[in-house]
Amino acid sequence: MRKGVYQYNGRLATRGPDGELCTWDSHHSKLAALIAKGFTPPITESSLILYLGAAAGSTASHISDIAHKGLVYALDFSPRVMRDLISVCESRPNMIPIFADANHPLRYSHLVDRVDVIYQDIAQRNQAEIALKNVRYFLKEEGYLILMIKARSIDSTADTREIFRREVEKLREEISVLKTIRLPGYRDHLAVIARK
Ligand SMILES: C[S@@+](CC[C@H](N)C(=O)[O-])C[C@H]1O[C@@H](n2cnc3c(N)ncnc32)[C@H](O)[C@@H]1O
Repeated sequence: MRKGVYQYNGRLATRGPDGELCTWDSHHSKLAALIAKGFTPPITESSLILYLGAAAGSTASHISDIAHKGLVYALDFSPRVMRDLISVCESRPNMIPIFADANHPLRYSHLVDRVDVIYQDIAQRNQAEIALKNVRYFLKEEGYLILMIKARSIDSTADTREIFRREVEKLREEISVLKTIRLPGYRDHLAVIARK
């Protein structure tokens, strides 16, 4: 198991700011599902991470536990989730909430430093395009992109393998795709690990 991620009562867990183990459900977190499958995310205790599509901050909070000496910029554009996201960030000194649309990195570029990892989990038609816009603005040289592609948000009828192939092709024009992994328990999703 990677540093910062534990097994607790048969489930994954991370250690929160108060030292308590926080269980991490792989049925509700794509990153937990990836880790349960044996993938080691390129996140260290001092990583700076830009999280696009943080929602109420559930997965982002576990990332902030792993990167406890680093920083997580947790961004979402939905007013509905912002109250919960802010409340999660209040108890975590290394998590910063950002209310913004990930399509427009210039609008939040004054708030975000260059980061080691961009993690994106956004159900939009232009998922690869959004990821690349943010890579250009914020990803350090040799930094990593972890992109969770949801095929059905891109095209509701086409063959999922064809959708994944096209999205990965778009990414390859600008970034090295290291690995693609199907997510157990998440139909029509593909995790892409890429490096600048
Ligand atoms: C599937 S949920 C993310 C769940 C979260 N990653 C987790 O594991 O806890 C997708 C989120 O992306 C957000 N989102 C969608 N399009 C966005 C955009 N253009 N900019 C910012 N957030 C966006 C939605 O508001 C939603 O909260």
